[in-house]
Amino acid sequence: MKVLVTGGAGFIGSNFVYLILKERPSWQVTVIDKLGYAGNKQSLEGALDKITFVKGNICDEGLIDSLVADSDAVVHFAAESHNDNSIANPWPFIESNLIGTYRILEAVRKHSKRLHHISTDEVYGDLELDDPAKFTDKTPYNPSSPYSSTKAGSDLLVRAWVRSFGVQATISNCSNNYGPRQHVEKFIPRQITEVLLDRKPKLYGTGENIRDWIQVDDHNSAVLTILEKGKAGETYLIGANGEKNNKEVVEMILSLMGKDPMDYEHVTDRPGHDLRYAIDNSKLVDELSWQPHYTSFEDGLRATIDWYTHNDSWWKPQKAETEAKYKQAGH
Ligand code: NAD
Ligand code: TYD
Repeated sequence: MKVLVTGGAGFIGSNFVYLILKERPSWQVTVIDKLGYAGNKQSLEGALDKITFVKGNICDEGLIDSLVADSDAVVHFAAESHNDNSIANPWPFIESNLIGTYRILEAVRKHSKRLHHISTDEVYGDLELDDPAKFTDKTPYNPSSPYSSTKAGSDLLVRAWVRSFGVQATISNCSNNYGPRQHVEKFIPRQITEVLLDRKPKLYGTGENIRDWIQVDDHNSAVLTILEKGKAGETYLIGANGEKNNKEVVEMILSLMGKDPMDYEHVTDRPGHDLRYAIDNSKLVDELSWQPHYTSFEDGLRATIDWYTHNDSWWKPQKAETEAKYKQAGH
């Protein structure tokens, strides 16, 4: 099996590469990544001698055509991934998430290759805080931000290429991931690294917004399950029943790091900030027999804190620039 992983130098993609090397050692892995601000070749340093790494842009038609022609399957992670950046400047999101996905679709169509498209639960918009409902694959799309709307658009392109051209593609929409090698712009690594630098965590608005946390290896084990056992044309929601509000997460980080759990500050809220995400994972569990491995958020968070504590050479180079961007946006 020759698998092409797009965005494999990013957070989830790099963790997926390590999972494949461990679980499917006979597979040949090629990564394409443009090494934008969130892509880091250092994230693959334990894998570079076992994979082929190509620095390139998924919007590059000729490059994508030749890489897809030489693969059996494509797992498509590459995207601009951060909501706050999409509010500051939507264009890179239009380019990578829409045009990039179009290039991948045209190549898998031409060469009749299997595609798994990685997406987010944010395509469904948000739920009320006290609503017992969760997202399912039947929930109507209702994205709020430039990020989530371009991911929604990319999902719809995939669905159209399945229906109109018979492309063999599956889609997964996952909830918020945490774990090692996540860029410090994201909520959990931002707060851990603020505490490591003796500064206070920063909560948007009231901190009551809820996210449904999943450890990144659980996301990726579900992706592997769908790649191998999923039915072409189907959408699977990935989540591990990990709903927590942001305040609880910050308090837990502070406690696990030996600090006063109330020692955080409130900063300006994100415009259009989604209230709550929650995943009903029953299709994945019932039809494909998938189960998450991480049953304790606290244990997963402790391991993540440990990773950032021991890998400051990985995150320190990103930190000052990230905080400068946040300062400019009032966060
Ligand atoms: P990330 O920003 O850490 O990584 C994205 C990677 O894609 C980076 O290495 C970047 O350089 C690369 N990339 C971006 N545009 C590219 C282009 N045009 N050509 C080549 N490479 C390009 O993001 P992540 O958190 O690892 O997210 C990966 C995927 O998972 C995304 O599709 C995202 O929408 C989805 N997702 C993320 C989460 C989450 O919680 N982080 C949850 C659900 C779904
Ligand atoms: P984020 O990691 O940006 O993921 P998403 O917007 O895709 O859910 O943010 C997770 C939650 O944390 C979201 O409700 C916004 C909030 N947040 C803060 O409260 N403080 C912060 O410094 C950041 C970056 C996010």
